Amino acid sequence: MEYFSEIVRNAIRTVPDWPEPGVQFRDITTALQDRTVFRKLIDAFVHRYHSADIDAIAAVDARGFILGSPLAYELNASFVPVRKKGKLPFDTLVEDYKLEYGTASVELHKDAFKAGHRVVLVDDLIATGGTMLAATRLLRRIGVEIVEVAAMIDLPDLGGSDKLRAEGLSVFTVCQFS
Ligand code: PRP
Ligand code: ADE
Repeated sequence: MEYFSEIVRNAIRTVPDWPEPGVQFRDITTALQDRTVFRKLIDAFVHRYHSADIDAIAAVDARGFILGSPLAYELNASFVPVRKKGKLPFDTLVEDYKLEYGTASVELHKDAFKAGHRVVLVDDLIATGGTMLAATRLLRRIGVEIVEVAAMIDLPDLGGSDKLRAEGLSVFTVCQFS
């Protein structure tokens, strides 16, 4: 019997030198295309949080939306998009961050949560942790409780998940690539 994390890991395609030389791109589209893997993946997140009294799933633009939306639906929680800069129309908070390749900013509507909401922050992958850290800064500025930071993939050699843990955050990932 293959462990669940191995099933997910084996369903992810690695594309070398994309989007630039030296990056091993972990492509989740192959896992999403597999209906059994996609369902098992969402079910695993639902199982982890179904008795955690979660008010909202915050998910990172864009790949975090793919996992975060069905999870929020199944938990009967709200869905809150943490978007790349310039996409949200109302009053926002902004945080800048560095990527494994490039720089960017994330943005959140100021009225996205009620104070004290219990929130899980979801993305597909943690590399340097820059994106998730910037998103957690947004959530902390708004005053919600971050129950956990969750992703399908951890790239532990890039140190992101350790950085998040050093910030006192609980981190859950389904599989790793070293
Ligand atoms: C990818 C990925 C994470 C982030 C991880 O998104 O989906 O959000 O990078 O990298 P980090 O831990 O080093 O911050 P990307 O910014 O490429 O955007 P996309 O989802 O729009 O493809
Ligand atoms: N985001 C940042 N680094 C990545 C990688 N190696 N594969 C896929 N998405 C990424």
